[in-house]
Amino acid sequence: MNRSQGVALVTGASSGIGLEFARLLAARGHALVLVARSTSKLEALARELDAAHGTAVTVASIDLGLPGGSQQLWDFTESQGIEIEILINNAGSGLYGDHIALDPAKVGSMLQLNILSLSELCQRYGAAMARRGRGWILNIASTAAYQPTPYFAAYGASKAYVLNFSEALAMELEDQGVIVSCLSPGPSDTAFFSDLDQRGLAIEALAKAGRRSARSVAEVGLVRLFAGKLSSIDGRMNALKARSLRLVPRALVARFSKDLMKATASI
Ligand SMILES: NC(=O)c1ccc[n+]([C@@H]2O[C@H](COP(=O)([O-])OP(=O)(O)OC[C@H]3O[C@@H](n4cnc5c(N)ncnc54)[C@H](OP(=O)(O)O)[C@@H]3O)[C@@H](O)[C@H]2O)c1
Repeated sequence: MNRSQGVALVTGASSGIGLEFARLLAARGHALVLVARSTSKLEALARELDAAHGTAVTVASIDLGLPGGSQQLWDFTESQGIEIEILINNAGSGLYGDHIALDPAKVGSMLQLNILSLSELCQRYGAAMARRGRGWILNIASTAAYQPTPYFAAYGASKAYVLNFSEALAMELEDQGVIVSCLSPGPSDTAFFSDLDQRGLAIEALAKAGRRSARSVAEVGLVRLFAGKLSSIDGRMNALKARSLRLVPRALVARFSKDLMKATASI
């Protein structure tokens, strides 16, 4: 692998924002480890990046929604002798609907992916980066992290975890040469919404209006990461909305959020 620019690991690189992170990092000259479940999509991306930039790509088809997924990934990169200099924790999924009606196994797998695997990867690769005194970690949260989100309750809460965890970890690692940054995208043009269940399709209608492209989200994420930003929100309007909610009593925000999400569900 070409290590002159350091190796970057991107989770959820088979589509959407993660795929754009991979393209941007390849264009900057980084060798890559690409992670997702869809082997054929990762391999197609690896061929594309090799043809475009001569990028050395290692594909890791791993389900991070399963306990042990992060350990499997760590063991794999260790067995290949790959040192990760940049970790992009982008993989995530969302479940929309009445929380009590959701399949508990699916909720568990989402929380494993969004919370546990992300934390474990930060721990494993963060420790290695701290030992070397150099590294960058970007965790992808969501504007859903900034308020309670009825009908997206566990997803929103998982992203609130990512935001708070990332900011705290950034403080712990800042004196060890490791930058941790968290980016919260708002509605973005990816498969994320179309992957939601039948009721979730109503959300798609709402979100289509102001969606940002996956490319711009990834560009903003890398700029903010390398600028050492603690955490940020992608898109001016998204930032304005999320920040202004901090001034409003939480009970009001929760009620407003319920009305919005319920109205959306009945479109
Ligand atoms: N799109 C939005 O509006 C939006 C808004 C706020 C935050 N976000 C966040 O942005 C991140 C990227 O989402 P996206 O919009 O780009 O969605 P996406 O197009 O659906 O991509 C999700 C990626 O995660 C991977 N993934 C899903 N489950 C996985 C698992 N169990 N193990 C390993 N990889 C898995 C998927 O690959 P495989 O299916 O091949 O495994 C895919 O590469 C997520 O964390 C999401 O929560 C998105």
